[in-house]
Amino acid sequence: MKGAMKLLLIVLSVIIFVTGIPNKERLVLAETTEKLKEVYGDYFMIGTCADNSYFSSSSAKYRVLSEHFNAITAENMMKPESLQATEGDFTFAQADRLVKSTLSNDMTMIGHTLAWHQQSPKWMNSGVGRDEAIRNLENHIAEVISHFGDDVYSWDVVNEAFNDSVTDPSNWRGALRDTPWKKAIGSDYLEIAFKAARKANPNIKLYYNDYNMDNPSKREAAYYMAKEFLEKDIPIDGIGMQGHYNMMTSVAAVEASILRFKELGLAISITELDVTVNEARGQSKLSEKLELAQAQKYAQLFKVFKENADAIERVTFWGISDAASWRRESFPLIFNSKYEPKQAFYAVADPDKFLEENPIAKPDADAEAKTANAAYGKAEIGGDESQWKNAEEIKVNNYIMAWQGATGTAKVLWDEKNLYVLFKVTDSVLNDSSVNPHEEDSVEIFLDETNGKMPFYENDDSQYRINYKNVKTYGATGEPKTGKVVSYAAAESGGYTVQAQIPFRKIKGEKGLTIGFDLQINDANAQGMRVSIAKWNDLTDNSFQSVSGFGNLTLK
Ligand code: XIL
Repeated sequence: MKGAMKLLLIVLSVIIFVTGIPNKERLVLAETTEKLKEVYGDYFMIGTCADNSYFSSSSAKYRVLSEHFNAITAENMMKPESLQATEGDFTFAQADRLVKSTLSNDMTMIGHTLAWHQQSPKWMNSGVGRDEAIRNLENHIAEVISHFGDDVYSWDVVNEAFNDSVTDPSNWRGALRDTPWKKAIGSDYLEIAFKAARKANPNIKLYYNDYNMDNPSKREAAYYMAKEFLEKDIPIDGIGMQGHYNMMTSVAAVEASILRFKELGLAISITELDVTVNEARGQSKLSEKLELAQAQKYAQLFKVFKENADAIERVTFWGISDAASWRRESFPLIFNSKYEPKQAFYAVADPDKFLEENPIAKPDADAEAKTANAAYGKAEIGGDESQWKNAEEIKVNNYIMAWQGATGTAKVLWDEKNLYVLFKVTDSVLNDSSVNPHEEDSVEIFLDETNGKMPFYENDDSQYRINYKNVKTYGATGEPKTGKVVSYAAAESGGYTVQAQIPFRKIKGEKGLTIGFDLQINDANAQGMRVSIAKWNDLTDNSFQSVSGFGNLTLK
């Protein structure tokens, strides 16, 4: 009897294995899915970032890698700190292995990156004069590019050189991030880098690479830089749009940027694609509903990529499986942690069919927005907090990064000309040492006066940032022309207070009016790195370029 049961079990297991009843997805992957690199063979390369572990031949990771991808970007191994942590001591062994595996698998090797403000050793550009910094930059580029020669198809020569908040993009030098390279050399460090790269190997393609290139003003800054380079014969061949997107990303804005760069005749690549689902952060798995919504976003993106394939040479995902992603808390990739295809995989494999079968019901921006009230009244900035006693308390305590840090509350008054905001932040460690104002301990106030909730900034929209020492910085639309932003800030035990008077740009304050509104708290650690962002309503990190996720503030 026991033996018969055992036999029955074995027979059942074999039937289940062959028909794949309990594991349909895996069977689909093994037998019927399209291979992405073949589907897109006539359009562009399909890449992923990787390290040497991706090539261990018996792993699921390698199976998926070799089935679907034909381009490899070194996720970390070719960054300055990996190749020359100590001056003159080049450490190529790990990267060489990756290049060898990539080429022996008939894949294209992409180099990332030569000049960046992160993952780069301090000796190169901190505490050294211009001439020495130039020598260090040129030497690093010459050595690295010559070492890999034609084995690397293209290099991201300069990475992330522009600020996120750009007010006058035609003055692209003014839009440059204040990085160690820029501080040591000046704004010509980019052309020095590109020239050194071309000199080291004329055969390879040279890219400028950055994130948020779908932000119209940041994109324009890169556009003007590349245009000037082309006019002055400074070598540049391509623009890398990193593509670290999320559910609020406007696919129309992505397409607008592709079309803009296309005007320059440069190659375009999507170099680090992922789409985070912030709503799912902290959950153990992605719900069916969110998985579908994410897939629809991927389908829309790939539709646009396909339509512009004449200008796009490569689309590279920043990883294969959610579990190994640098943004793993928000399930950003097209394979799940078991390397099984997600809905997003099918969306990428055939975007038109996917959207036909799964039409988008309503625009992303329709997500329910919170509502709060502002009380009528005027406040003397720097005066007593009791001036806000009639206003309701708004809690700024929704986290959008992995770490959970400072929270706070705010109260808002309004009159015909201004909003008056009182912000109380709880935060025991205060730091303003970052080169990026948004990474300092600071609060941000966002306004969409006409409440149009558009996926970009118009001239009624504004972003104001005030740090705990009362240093003000402005978002894409700059300072208002209708009056001064008056502010006060003071550190106090366990946190800090900010008061601000913000003039309306377009509207006149009126009882019953509802405007788009949001609040943010940036929390820096003792080293000056931003470790947490708390928001009132918009749970994306996109408020600086899209007002579509703001909450509603009613003037009572
Ligand atoms: C990330 C890697 O994925 C992480 O493993 C590493 O810890 C930090 O860097 N923009 C870039 C990439 O250009 O190099 C970054 O990669 C992600 C953001």
